[in-house]
Amino acid sequence: ESSSLTLLLWALIGYGLGSIPFGLLLTQLLGLGNLREIGSGNIGATNVLRTGNKTAAALTLLLDAGKGVVAVLLARVYSGEDAAQLAALMAMLGHCYPVWLGFKGGKGVATFLGLMWALAWPVGLGCCIAWAVAASLTRISSMGGLMAAAVSTFLLVLTGNGTMLLLGIALTLLVFWRHRANITRIRQGTEPKIGQKS
Ligand code: G3P
Repeated sequence: ESSSLTLLLWALIGYGLGSIPFGLLLTQLLGLGNLREIGSGNIGATNVLRTGNKTAAALTLLLDAGKGVVAVLLARVYSGEDAAQLAALMAMLGHCYPVWLGFKGGKGVATFLGLMWALAWPVGLGCCIAWAVAASLTRISSMGGLMAAAVSTFLLVLTGNGTMLLLGIALTLLVFWRHRANITRIRQGTEPKIGQKS
């Protein structure tokens, strides 16, 4: 059992790591333009790809997922599973609502996938497969993210871990909430395909 102070510390570290906007930092660093004025205006890998730079997009995906992995693994090693799950939730909130960007952050898919890998790798694997299947069938990135999030709930039921399931449901709801505009566009048939500018 971790003390409240220890948990508070991991909550802060999780949020801090999650709130690093790698997509924005990379596009600025590489002079790829203002991500907020490109495509969906989102800070994630899907939108970085709309700058035309595949390497920057791949790096954004890896780093946004990696910060979730690091948050979970650090908290787990030093303070155990409760701390790891709290750090996971806070990393996701940090990514979606970073204080540095006036709480206007990303949609959480890459970070969600990293968190799932670190928390329960078979679930992470299943989510990545769901992403790949949905994205390749539709060529729409948000469809991949929404499908991965939805599938996680079913996979987490199988793990039989109650708190993990609750955490997974919270993260899934957050992914759906952050994709409100995408869901509207999907329903209207106007959601762009992967790599398409807008
Ligand atoms: O991870 C975000 C992705 O699912 C959708 O991104 O830029 O198409 O809104 P975007």
